[in-house]
Order: sequence, then C-alpha cells, then structure tokens
Amino acid sequence: MSRLVIVANRVPDPRERGATAGGLAVALKDALHRREALWFGWSGATVAEAAATPAEHRKGRVTYATLDLSEEDYRHYYLGFSNGALWPVLHYRLGIARFAREDWEGYRRVNAAFAAALAPMLRPDDTIWVHDFHLFLLAAELRKLGCRQKIGFFLHVPFPPRAVIMGMPKAEAILQALGAHDAIGVQTEDDAENLRAALVTGGEAEAATRVGAFAIGIDAAGFAALAARRFRTKEVDQLRDSLAGRALAIGVDRLDYTKGLPQRIAGFGKLLQRFPQHRSRVTFLQVAPVSRGDVATYRALRRELDEMVGRINGQYAEPDWGPIRYITRAVARPTLAGYMRLARIGLVTPLRDGMNLVAKEYVAAQDPEDPGVLVLSRFAGASGEMEGALLVNPLDPDDIAEALDVALTMPAEERLARWKPMDAAIRANNASAWCRRFLAALEGAEAAPEPAR
Ligand code: G6P
Repeated sequence: MSRLVIVANRVPDPRERGATAGGLAVALKDALHRREALWFGWSGATVAEAAATPAEHRKGRVTYATLDLSEEDYRHYYLGFSNGALWPVLHYRLGIARFAREDWEGYRRVNAAFAAALAPMLRPDDTIWVHDFHLFLLAAELRKLGCRQKIGFFLHVPFPPRAVIMGMPKAEAILQALGAHDAIGVQTEDDAENLRAALVTGGEAEAATRVGAFAIGIDAAGFAALAARRFRTKEVDQLRDSLAGRALAIGVDRLDYTKGLPQRIAGFGKLLQRFPQHRSRVTFLQVAPVSRGDVATYRALRRELDEMVGRINGQYAEPDWGPIRYITRAVARPTLAGYMRLARIGLVTPLRDGMNLVAKEYVAAQDPEDPGVLVLSRFAGASGEMEGALLVNPLDPDDIAEALDVALTMPAEERLARWKPMDAAIRANNASAWCRRFLAALEGAEAAPEPAR
C-alpha cells in the first residue's frame, strides 16, 4: 500500500501515549497502523528565525516532520489569519473577524513554505491528506511545485453559507486554491451544500463535484473501555465522594467563544432560579482549558466567564454546596473519561461546531446499565447522529435550563432508550470507518485536472 502523508498545523508528539492523544491522532490511528506514514506540520514552537527544513522523528511506521514558526509567522499566520479571521468566519461569526493584509500575506507565506519543505520529501505514489483551515492553500502551492499525487482535504470545522464566506476578504483566492484537491471532505451535508455553493460562485464549479460529507468519529470501543477502567480510580472516587450523592452535569471544551460557555453557565443559573427544587441537588463541573490565549477575543471570554461563575456561585452557593466547579487547566483524557461516566448529564452546547467529539465521548463513556443524558446543541455537527439527545438552542439559556430539568428527572428506562441508538451510531461510524471512507473517496477519485500554470 502506498504511503499516507498527513499534513496538519498540529503534529502529535510521538512521545505521547495513546490514551492522551487528541482528536485527529485518534481518528487516524488505524490508518497509521496499517501503512507507512509521514505526518508533517508545525512543531508548536515559535522561534526568532525558523529553519526551512523540518526536524524528523520516527515512531513505528510513522515519521513526524515538523517546522518551527518564526514569531512573525506565528502572529500573522496562526493568530492573525487562521484564528482571528478564518476561525470566526467559518463559525458564522463574520462580525467578530479581524482582517489585515499582513495576516493574509503571512498565511500565504506559511502555506507556501510548508509546501516547499514537504515537496522534496514526497514519493511519486504517496497519498496526501491535508487537514483543516490553516492549510487551505497548501495543495495549490504543492501543485505549483509540480506535485501530481492525489491530494485530499478535510475541513474539521463548519463551512458557513455562501453569503457569509463571500463577505470575507480573500475568499475567492481560498476557493480557487481548494480546487487543487482531488477530494474535499466536510463534516455534514449542510457544510457540503454550503461549500459547493461557494465553489460554484467562486468559479470552481468543477471542484464542487469533489465535495462530500464524512462525519468524523471516535474510537468508541476504546473510549468506553477507558471510561470503565478509570471509573474506579482515586481521582474519580474523590469527585464522587465530594458530590455527596448529588447529580453531576459535566462540560468539557477548549475555552473558545464558539462553545457557548457564557450561555451554558447562564442556562445553569436559570435552572437554579426557575426550578429551585434542584438547588443543592446538582453540581455542574465545567472543564475549559485555556486555548489561544494570545488572541484578544479569547482573553475577553475568560474574563467574562470568571465573572459569571463567581456571580452564580455567590448567588446560590450554600456552606456545603457550590453550584459550579470551573477548571481552566487541562485535565488528562483518561481522567475525563472517568468523570464523564460519573456524570448524569453531558452538557455540550456550542453555538456552532463542526462535529464535537465530546458529545460522542460522553455517550461512549456511559455505563450501559445506567447511562446519563446528553444535552446537545442543535448546531453541533454531532446532532445529526445523536437522535437520543435532548437538543437545545444554545443561545437560549431558558431552553438549556428546561432541558436540564428534563434530564435530571428522566426515568432510567427513558435514559436507556435514548442512549442505546446513540451508542450504536458512534460505534458504527467510528474513527476508523471515517478514515476508510475518506481515503476510499480520495484514492478512488479521478486525478484532478492539471492546473493552468
Ligand atoms: C479545533 C481545530 C483544530 C485545532 C484545535 C485546537 O479543533 O479544528 O484544527 O488544532 O481546534 O486549536 P489550536 O489552535 O490549539 O490548534
């Protein structure tokens, strides 16, 4: 089988053990076991002057090749264009996006530099799979360097309606660059329709035919086993003991404004206000590790959350009970798996989300004899597969409060009846199925037409 080349802004640390690895590394695990692979991207380090040739580490059949970013590139490519402009626009938030020509130039420069560093490492029969919005221009840059291999692209985040994306400066250049791929994957049918419409508008009608929806999955069986194992450990015992028989609701998100955290906390506050019977009966644990702290909007969100949590805790706390426990540090995945199993409610309410793997992990982590309830945003890609969830509009704290009340009072048979089909769905469409489906589409695709030079 030919070699698989993964290109993503983030490259996993080969020293990390399987259980601590994040979303993409888990999703690709199977594929990386089955064939030789090269994973290329940013090292995560920022240096005064970045080298043009990558550092390489080998583990098993996978070679990890990484480049550092210069401080300037970090500022313009990563903070500026990727996270300050593309991230909000792709999550439907054109109004809070910040554009600067220097950021766009930095984005182009890094995409071109990544292509230039990767091209000499490529073999003629490699299959190349590019991930996410940081690298929209990479394939087009590789094509300019004469690369003829199959190149696929997968967008992990949503793709907004045409009118939103076309409002973004340089949208046409991005759509044109997407045309360099042989297959383009997005999470949902809505995303696929939006992207096709934008490609047609941008004069890339041919590329629109190569777009397909491939909902990403998790290693459901692996996560279920991890949660069951971790359920009987000191950390989970400590949490269980501290609850003193109260129900636990859990939220796990990067501290990001797309995750609907202020609205979620307001929703929990509404629950305590409107349904006083739950006061002192339920504790909400929100784990929200700080993310992208160098971007101003993220810092502002953190201040807002600090204040909100303090206010609600001050308003409702009793000497022996605090309503909200709020952690902005990272918690290890195995521990989180155990916490999720303990939680009666999984609260996942992003304003927009490509898929949201926490929703799937919460389902996987449940005790099959006594599962909890998933309260899920209808604007997370996962809502399409999670039929048994209580779907809410994440902008409406009253809707969240009412769903929490329903979840807290739901009889065991109904919890089980809702959980079973969700568990079956995440096991059927798991990470390896996702990977196989996309690679089959890419490797079976007809070669993209030669680009005009
Ligand atoms: C989202 C994006 C990923 C990104 C991750 C963490 O899941 O889709 O591409 O890696 O967030 O964000 P960061 O900026 O820390 O890479």
